[in-house]
Amino acid sequence: MDVYGLLGNPVGHSLSPPMHEAGYEQLDIDASYVTFEPPVGKGAAAVESAAMLDVSGLNVTIPFKQDVLDAVEPDRQAARIGAVNTIDFATDPPTGYNTDAAGLVRAFEHHGVPLTGRAVLVGAGGAGRAAAFALAAEGMAVDIANRTVGKAVDLAAEVRESAVDGTASGQPLSDALALLADADVLVNATSVGMEEDRSPVPADALHGDLAVLDAVYSPIETRLLREAAAAGATTVDGAWMLLYQGVAAFERWTGEDGPVEAMNDALRAHLE
Ligand code: ATR
Repeated sequence: MDVYGLLGNPVGHSLSPPMHEAGYEQLDIDASYVTFEPPVGKGAAAVESAAMLDVSGLNVTIPFKQDVLDAVEPDRQAARIGAVNTIDFATDPPTGYNTDAAGLVRAFEHHGVPLTGRAVLVGAGGAGRAAAFALAAEGMAVDIANRTVGKAVDLAAEVRESAVDGTASGQPLSDALALLADADVLVNATSVGMEEDRSPVPADALHGDLAVLDAVYSPIETRLLREAAAAGATTVDGAWMLLYQGVAAFERWTGEDGPVEAMNDALRAHLE
């Protein structure tokens, strides 16, 4: 039996085990998906141990996404983003990927949203980095709006210096309203909306020509998505991004097309 798993701390409430196991069941793959909770700071050591124990693949979440870079060979996109969320042990050293970026792109694709034109990305933390490189690699002009403007400016410079087709600028979050007037896509990569019924951008900035993805998936319908739907925008909830980062990891590991419907059903059953 192949063993896959998630490295995080804490990992107790993770939705990845039921999502991946639904995929194995659907394709008759003899595998299980378990969670590992090594001590903080021990991410790279945990990856080396997993290799020794013949683990086939690992997902990686907070607080280990940067640490594990010391124990893997990152692909180009993971190296740019500076974070790994998927490790494939078929190579030596293991290969590190960032399927959060692929997950974002495939979530939009699933909803028929073309990633062309202008994007406003709110947030410049870990999730924001993956989103910025993902959107720019699709060729979009990305305005990164962040509360701490310096982080947005620095991230935008990194995006411009990388060999991606698109471009980026760093902006204060207070400019989001003006930036959104010309935007085709809005991504929330902050935690705003998770704890309280708040949106990172004013409701009157939203319009019917926008496609809005919220990386927050708890609650599944955030205030941002509610206000976006009311403005006539296309909405993509955070579970789609969570699903497709998992599907992309599943495909890396198994070489099979991910059974999207079965994995989505399992994920949403556990979200409710
Ligand atoms: P993650 O890895 O989930 O992206 P992070 O690296 O801590 O987490 O980044 C959190 C992001 O949410 C940042 O862009 C942060 O803005 P700052 O860089 O200014 O801290 C943003 N964020 C968190 N709380 C916020 C709030 N109340 N209003 C606006 N932005 C917020």
